[in-house]
Amino acid sequence: MTNSPLPRTRTPESLRSTRWFGPADLRSFGHRSRAMQMGWAEEDWAGKPVIGILNTWSDINPCHQHFRARVEDVKRGVLQAGGLPLELPALALPENFMKPTTMLYRNMLAMEAEEQIRSLPVDGVVLMGGCDKTGPGLLLGALSAGVPTIFLPAGPMLRGNWNGKILGSGSDSWKYWDELRAGRITQEDWTGVEQGIAPSHGTCMTMGTASTMTAIIEALGFSLPGFSSVPAPDSNHPRLSAATGRRVVEMVWEDLVPSRIATRAACRNAVAVAMAMGCSTNALIHLIALARRAGHAEFGLDDFEALSREVPVIANVRPSGSTYLMEDFYYAGGIRALMARMGHHLDTGTLTCTGRSLGENVAGASVSNDDVIRPLDNPIYAEGALAVLKGNLAPDGCVIKPSAMDPRFLRHAGPALVFDDYPSMKQAVEDENLAITPDHVLVLRNAGPQGGPGMPEWGMLPMPKALLKQGHRDMLRLSDARMSGTSYGACVLHVSPESYVGGPLALLRTGDIVEVDVPARSINMRVEQEELARRQKAWAPPPPRFGRGYGWMFSRHIRQAHEGCDFDFLKTEFGSPVDEPAI
Ligand code: FES
Ligand code: MG
Repeated sequence: MTNSPLPRTRTPESLRSTRWFGPADLRSFGHRSRAMQMGWAEEDWAGKPVIGILNTWSDINPCHQHFRARVEDVKRGVLQAGGLPLELPALALPENFMKPTTMLYRNMLAMEAEEQIRSLPVDGVVLMGGCDKTGPGLLLGALSAGVPTIFLPAGPMLRGNWNGKILGSGSDSWKYWDELRAGRITQEDWTGVEQGIAPSHGTCMTMGTASTMTAIIEALGFSLPGFSSVPAPDSNHPRLSAATGRRVVEMVWEDLVPSRIATRAACRNAVAVAMAMGCSTNALIHLIALARRAGHAEFGLDDFEALSREVPVIANVRPSGSTYLMEDFYYAGGIRALMARMGHHLDTGTLTCTGRSLGENVAGASVSNDDVIRPLDNPIYAEGALAVLKGNLAPDGCVIKPSAMDPRFLRHAGPALVFDDYPSMKQAVEDENLAITPDHVLVLRNAGPQGGPGMPEWGMLPMPKALLKQGHRDMLRLSDARMSGTSYGACVLHVSPESYVGGPLALLRTGDIVEVDVPARSINMRVEQEELARRQKAWAPPPPRFGRGYGWMFSRHIRQAHEGCDFDFLKTEFGSPVDEPAI
C-alpha cells in the first residue's frame, strides 16, 4: 500500500515523539538514555514515526493465539517503512473465559488504549483485536486519542468438523446442547462436538460479534481492504499484517487521523455493511458507542432502523444463513466483494486508511459464489438483519433479529413467564413439568448494563425442556440482556431502559400479555396505564451491585444500551478535550 495519493504533511520535527526524544534538555536526556538501555541507538528513533502496537494477546485468549507471531510481522512492516515499532500489551478480553461478561470490561480496554496512546511517545497505532469486545474497545480509545490509527483483525478460525458435519462456533454449541437435552444425541457425540468445534486459532467463524465488528471496522475505513475476511491461519494474514505495519507509518506522515476517516457517512456505511452481513445484535451497541466517540452525538438506533428497512441480508453465513461460514465467505470474495455488490447502499466516497476511498478499495472485487454472497435481488432475507422495536415495554428501544428466528413469532401475543434472575430461570427451564406453552413469552430481567452487571449474553434464554421434548425449537423470549452474535431465535434483547434502573420491564408480571409486532416495530404489554402507574409507585430500586472497585465506578457511569453503553465521562461532549501531556 505505497500508492496513497495523500500528501505528506508531517515533518520529522513535527512528530509527536520528537517531543520526547528531540529536545536538548534533561527530560529528553532521560528518554534517550533509557531508550539506549533497551539497546536502541539514535538511528532507531531520530526523525522516525514511533508506532504503538496495541496487542490483545494473552495466554487465555484462544482467538488471539497467533498475535504473538503476527506482531512480529507488523514490526517488520513498520521497520521496512522507516518507523520504530513498540509493542504495547493491552487487556485481552477473552470472550469465553472472562466473567461475568467481557462487556463489563470493554470500556476498561477503551480507557487503557486511550491513555496508553496519550501518555507514551506514540505517533501512530496498530490495534490488534478481533475477539468480540477487543475491536470496539481498542477503537473507542484510539478515536478519543486521535493519532493515526489502523486496525489489524484477528481473522476467523477455520471451519469446525464432527463426524463429517461442519460445525459453527456458538451456533452449533447451542444446537447440539438442545439435541443432547432432548435425548437425540449421545454423550459420546457431544464429546465429539466439543473436540471439533474450534479447530484453529482465530475468532468465531460464524457471523458472530467478532466477524461483525471486524467487518464494520473495515467498512468504517480502519483496515486494509479485504483484511477482515482473511482466516487467521491463511498466509495472506501475516502478509497483510506486515502491510498494515508499512501503511501506518505512511499514515503518520500524511496525518491521516481518525477524525478524517470516521465521518458520519462512514458510520452509515458501517451500518449498511452490518445489515448486509446479517450482523450480530451487539453491532448496535458498539457502533453507537464508536460513532458517538467519533463526534456524531445524535447517532443511534434510528440509523439502524432506517437502514434495516433498505439493506437486504446478502451474506449467507450462519446464523442468519443456513450453511456457510466465514471461510466460505472469504473464498467467495469476502468483504470487498460484498461491498462491491452493495452498490447504491454505500457511500463509496469516504476516505479510508489506504488514503483512498472505499470505492477505490473495493473496485474490481467480484463474487465467485453467488450462493454465499447473494445478488441484491436474491437475498437470504429481504430486509436488514435487525429490527428496532419500541413501545410501553421499551420506550428507548430494543432489538430483535428477524433473519435468524422462526417467522411465526414476527407477530405474536402471549402470556409472560417472568424471572428476576438467571439462576432461577435456568433451574425452571430444566423442569419437564413446567407449566408453559409454545405461546408463552419467556422473560428475564435484571440482566442489563447495571443489572447483569455488564449486560451479559444471556438473551438467548434456554428453551424450556418441556417444550423441547414436544419438538419446539423456538419461542418468543424477552430480556434486557445481550446475546452472542452466534445465537439465534425469537429473542427480544437490549430492552431500554433496563429493569434494574426502573425501566417498564420491571413492572411486567407473570400472566400479563406481551405483544410483539415486528413489521410494525412495536412491543407492548397489555396492561392499563393506571395499573402500570400503581406498580411503578410500589417499585423499589434494588441495592447497588458493587460497594467498591471498578464495578462501583462502572455502575455510576455506564449509559444504557441505546446510547452504546459508554461511560458518561468518556463521551466526546462530556467536557473539554484532554490536553497533550506535559513532558
Ligand atoms: Fe473470541 Fe468468539 S470467543 S471471537
Ligand atoms: Mg461472541
